[in-house]
Amino acid sequence: MASEQYHEPAEELSAETRTLVRMMTSLKEEVEAINWYEQRISLEPDPEARAIMQNAQQEEFKHFGMDLEFLLRKKDKWRTTLKEILFKSGDIVELGEKGEEKAE
Ligand SMILES: [Fe+2]
Repeated sequence: MASEQYHEPAEELSAETRTLVRMMTSLKEEVEAINWYEQRISLEPDPEARAIMQNAQQEEFKHFGMDLEFLLRKKDKWRTTLKEILFKSGDIVELGEKGEEKAE
């Protein structure tokens, strides 16, 4: 359903917000696809079928990354927060707290 992605009246939202909503919906769908492939791969006994599903899951990683990067380019505080968390070693909760402080 087209309206299920909105919590507020869509006609009252700006075009920019509607684009963000579409991209966040896409991001959720890519994670869902990654999740479904993960489960199928873990149970599939046929190696060729498993290889095809692994290839498809790899595509979903790419889609997720592109969606996320688009959103981070539009949302400075989100980008600032994630810059402190992603691709770093150390305590994830502490990194998250640091990211949150930087974004304030
Ligand atoms: Fe996808």
